[in-house]
Amino acid sequence: MDRKSREYEVCLCYHTTRGEVEDFIREHGITDLKTLCEEMKIGDKCGGCREDLDMILTEVNAGE
Ligand code: FES
Repeated sequence: MDRKSREYEVCLCYHTTRGEVEDFIREHGITDLKTLCEEMKIGDKCGGCREDLDMILTEVNAGE
């Protein structure tokens, strides 16, 4: 699936979609990866999604 799709499952360990992450970042004004992972309770198992999460953070905060 396209990584830009809102349906893209960014965190496989917690079954969290890109759309859910984008909405959470906007609603809570998240600007850093550590806070995002702690507050959403994602990204702390295998860690394989962290790079993608960081990219989403950058994009949302850049207004994309
Ligand atoms: S894919 Fe997110 S912690 Fe494993």
